[in-house]
Amino acid sequence: MKIQLAEHMGFCFGVKRAIDLAQENANDHTGKIYTLGPLIHNPQVVSRLSRQGIAVAENIDAINQGTVIIRSHGVGPEVYRRAEAKGLTIVDATCPHVKKAQQAAARLAASGYQVIILGDADHPEVKSIIAWAGSDPIVIGSEEQAAELPVFPKLGVVAQTTFSIELFDCILAVLQTKCQEIQIDRTICTATDMRQQTARKLAGQVDVMVVVGGKNSANTTHLADLCRQTGVKTYHIETASELKQHWFEGARQVGITAGASTPQWIIEEVYTTMQQMEQDDRLKRLEPGMLIQ
Ligand code: F3S
Repeated sequence: MKIQLAEHMGFCFGVKRAIDLAQENANDHTGKIYTLGPLIHNPQVVSRLSRQGIAVAENIDAINQGTVIIRSHGVGPEVYRRAEAKGLTIVDATCPHVKKAQQAAARLAASGYQVIILGDADHPEVKSIIAWAGSDPIVIGSEEQAAELPVFPKLGVVAQTTFSIELFDCILAVLQTKCQEIQIDRTICTATDMRQQTARKLAGQVDVMVVVGGKNSANTTHLADLCRQTGVKTYHIETASELKQHWFEGARQVGITAGASTPQWIIEEVYTTMQQMEQDDRLKRLEPGMLIQ
């Protein structure tokens, strides 16, 4: 059985930066350290951070002293104001790509554009962009929703960083018919797209796919769905302990991919466990008296 790894997988730049910043601060600070919401959607990483003294606070009201780490999804201006008023040390781990989307939304709103955010209104990143986008931003996620909009004099368009590039262009075509003037900020980050493209490609070449990452991670779950859509047998696991030998019976090629919130150490554990399973299986198939080469 040959084990192949996807070309792009695991931590994206923004998540890695957030984890590095959290760890640096865990070493440097003696006071209490909190993240606003789980730093990433990976339970193993969150519990490792908790062992290093970094706790999760649901909101800024729950923190009265110490350091607050703002996660890669970012937050609105009000949260910075409240943290400063409380005298908290702020460690800003907002992904620079998300920051660009927030700044674009703020600039467009200040220049009198009706801000349209392409994305999922319930996602924490979109909530953070909304908070910077003036008084009445509109969030849409489909061409149908764009078609229902009235005509505006000036539209300013930004996107959730993980929004699909193809869908962005389709919605844009509709929005261009809904205004006299349009400003577009392509605030899409390619990290997610690269992970999806390479997962799909690998799924098309193997007999079984193993997708590693938090069950609560939307991007990992989406990767697993994309692999399944290619028709390949796909397993979504959080850690190596969930692997089952019988999944790989008869498989000649197996692929591994991982979401943007999955750390390298978990991917390596999965890889080495699968290699071990392969060796155990070969030994089991040896007849007594056969030579081991
Ligand atoms: Fe940033 Fe892109 Fe990751 S926006 S958090 S680098 S998916």
